[in-house]
Amino acid sequence: MKITMVGTGYVGLVTGTCFANIGNDVTCLDIDQKKIDKLNNGISPIYEPGLDDMIQRNAKAGRLTFTTDAASAYQSAQVVFICVGTPSDERGRADLKYVLAAAADIGKAIEAGPGETGGGEEERRAKIIVVKSTVPVGTNKKVRAEIAKHTNKPFKMGSNPEFLKEGAAINDFNKPDRVVIGAEDEGTGERLRKLYDPFVRNGNPVFVMDIPSAEMVKYASNAMLATKISFINEIANLCEAYGSDVDEVWRGMTTDSRIGNKFLYPGLGYGGSCFPKDVLACISMGEDCGRPTQLLDAVHNVNQLQRDRFFEKISSHFGAGGLAGKKIGVWGIAFKPGTDDIREAPSLTLMKALLDNGAQVVAHDPVAHETCQDHGMGDQITYAEDPYDACVGVDALVICTDWPSFKQPDFDQMRARMNQPVVFDGRNLYHPESMREDGFVYYSVGREPVTKPSVTAG
Ligand SMILES: NC(=O)c1ccc[n+]([C@@H]2O[C@H](COP(=O)([O-])OP(=O)(O)OC[C@H]3O[C@@H](n4cnc5c(N)ncnc54)[C@H](O)[C@@H]3O)[C@@H](O)[C@H]2O)c1
Repeated sequence: MKITMVGTGYVGLVTGTCFANIGNDVTCLDIDQKKIDKLNNGISPIYEPGLDDMIQRNAKAGRLTFTTDAASAYQSAQVVFICVGTPSDERGRADLKYVLAAAADIGKAIEAGPGETGGGEEERRAKIIVVKSTVPVGTNKKVRAEIAKHTNKPFKMGSNPEFLKEGAAINDFNKPDRVVIGAEDEGTGERLRKLYDPFVRNGNPVFVMDIPSAEMVKYASNAMLATKISFINEIANLCEAYGSDVDEVWRGMTTDSRIGNKFLYPGLGYGGSCFPKDVLACISMGEDCGRPTQLLDAVHNVNQLQRDRFFEKISSHFGAGGLAGKKIGVWGIAFKPGTDDIREAPSLTLMKALLDNGAQVVAHDPVAHETCQDHGMGDQITYAEDPYDACVGVDALVICTDWPSFKQPDFDQMRARMNQPVVFDGRNLYHPESMREDGFVYYSVGREPVTKPSVTAG
């Protein structure tokens, strides 16, 4: 199958490479010349485990190409996947300007291209335009209308929300829990289902449904996951107030098979390029149809408050004005492990608050220094190549991302380098009692803080 992916970000690049990897002829199109130049030199513009190697192999085999030439990329494709960003606009609505700009280009390319004028066999084989970006219900209709402004030639519309997780994206796409396809007619649904056949040999389902339902599945899924995080964070806050331990509560609660234990970890709340904007977009959909989403309003507010509350722990430890002139180490910048994506990362909120209160920040992340330098904190902070270097002379260490390499550090080395042995753990990586024994003042989420460490340590 000849496929064009529009947008070579986390979704377009990963899914395009995986489609090429099973033998399809894939063109990845982007308007960002720098990204395309990098890709043509075999370098991935994003960090995703295993992706560089897969790009290089498939490019070498001639199945994966990268271009900024929209007209030829659209004209040659049988299926076009729109994978451009849908960030929040200033009111929290999904901004469709990138999706609609791509739709206009597609319409012009179809019009200028050879062939189909409609009817019979041509109609049956018409190009399929699939919206893979996460978009509010009704967007496919707008995309169809935008394309049709520029051409009378036939084309088909499909919706195919993407569920991959950054950091595990290749595996998620190759072995999806489910594939959701929205199609405007049976033939289009069948053609798209066939494209996914090789990915569901394990028997996992491909659901073909109407387009508005497919569009809603993605929002409903992300809203549910965000709700779980805000729920457990709210319980963690109650635990702190009443002296319960959220680890014990979690164990006692999640063994109920109706509840389950997945995606219910307390911490700094959700970040990243999806949950925050998708929850806001859902709230906007509710406002637009006069059915306010009261639960999702609360999910969003709890998430925002979670970061503020954690910062309060830091500032109240140092007392009024006490952060001025302090040096604070940060472990983890990426919004989660396995990615260099820092969009809406809790680390950014905390680092900004630390700087605003007069502290200096030295941060370490295994892969996200470049994205933070270019799109986050620039040179307002310093970057440490080694996690222990981020402990040198600091008055506290703040842990923002649960990278595996932070889970069992050498506590003696940390303590020996720190000016004061104080750890604020936003991911509950360590046990409070062992931190006490290791001589740390230790704050985490939903658990009793350690304010009096063992004096014998060190
Ligand atoms: N990142 C994720 O984990 C994830 C997972 C599932 C769904 N999604 C959804 O997928 C969509 C894309 O997300 P992303 O994280 O890959 O975005 P991204 O910002 O990483 O990439 C988008 C790319 O599209 C390009 N682009 C914009 N307009 C274009 C045009 N007219 N023609 C060609 N290229 C164009 C940009 O230059 C950019 O490279 C969003 O709607 C997002 O919500 C993302």
